Amino acid sequence: MRVLAVLYALCFLVNETQAWGIRNGIFHNSIWLEQAAGVYHRESRKGRYQLTYKEAKAVCKFEGGTLANYKQLEAARQIGLHVCAAGWLERGRVGYPIVKAGANCGFGKIGIVDYGYRGNKSERWDVYCYNPNTKECGGVLTDPKRIIQSPGFPEEYQDEQICYWHIRVRFGQRIQLHFLEFDVEDDTACLADYLEVYDSYDDISGFAGRFCSDNLPEDIISTGNVMTLKFLSDASVTAGGFQLQYIAFNSSLFSQNDTSYFY
Ligand SMILES: *[C@@H]1O[C@H](CO)[C@@H](O)[C@H](O)[C@H]1NC(C)=O
Ligand SMILES: *[C@@H]1O[C@H](CO)[C@@H](O)[C@H](O)[C@H]1NC(C)=O
Repeated sequence: MRVLAVLYALCFLVNETQAWGIRNGIFHNSIWLEQAAGVYHRESRKGRYQLTYKEAKAVCKFEGGTLANYKQLEAARQIGLHVCAAGWLERGRVGYPIVKAGANCGFGKIGIVDYGYRGNKSERWDVYCYNPNTKECGGVLTDPKRIIQSPGFPEEYQDEQICYWHIRVRFGQRIQLHFLEFDVEDDTACLADYLEVYDSYDDISGFAGRFCSDNLPEDIISTGNVMTLKFLSDASVTAGGFQLQYIAFNSSLFSQNDTSYFY
């Protein structure tokens, strides 16, 4: 539970064994960034608590940001950033922001849980970056209807991107994804760059498809009220990216032939 960024407003809690798991011999998780006041949490592509101080700085810099400082993290916390994972801050401090006290996270405390300035910069934690002009790359989406775009769209996306969008709509609703534009580097197995869709709150279960090329995927409809989208680009060749819309609908209202929601 400690490792999950929990959207406080939703009180969305999942159990750790469901959110983390081994698939194809690789430890998978759902990286997501929650952002407030330009501050967001990041972890290594390898998983939680894998970044040395130097690597943490590089992660933020890679995206055009810097390590967040304590004040910035606190400002973000005050508008709702609640992340249950300790990360590097400026000058080698480590901490995490807690909005809502919980038994599993933050020792029941509200505020910044502060591990202080670490003497050993080889310790491995996550990181908090500060980037007021942060790229649109992932997040937890709770609106009933939204457009999702690859970072930088309609300009080409960049290499080495990994973005997770977690869509969560009201319980009892379902989600329809409707692709508007799609242009992702093409290879036969979509190994290089791809968008994956999961009919689930993580990227472990509910695989619904992996997409690349410039063929517009068909609409995808969830079975429940959550969906996860994962976009990954490798170190070479980019393309125009994608744009899609999701819309929540009341399960009972849905009929397979009804696409009128979009028009
Ligand atoms: C610093 O931390 C790393 C990672 O936890 C550990 O392997 C190393 O032994 C530590 N170094 C010292 C001097 O404590
Ligand atoms: C969907 O269901 C909710 C609660 O059951 C209701 O308040 C809302 O009006 C419904 N929306 C539509 C479009 O029927």
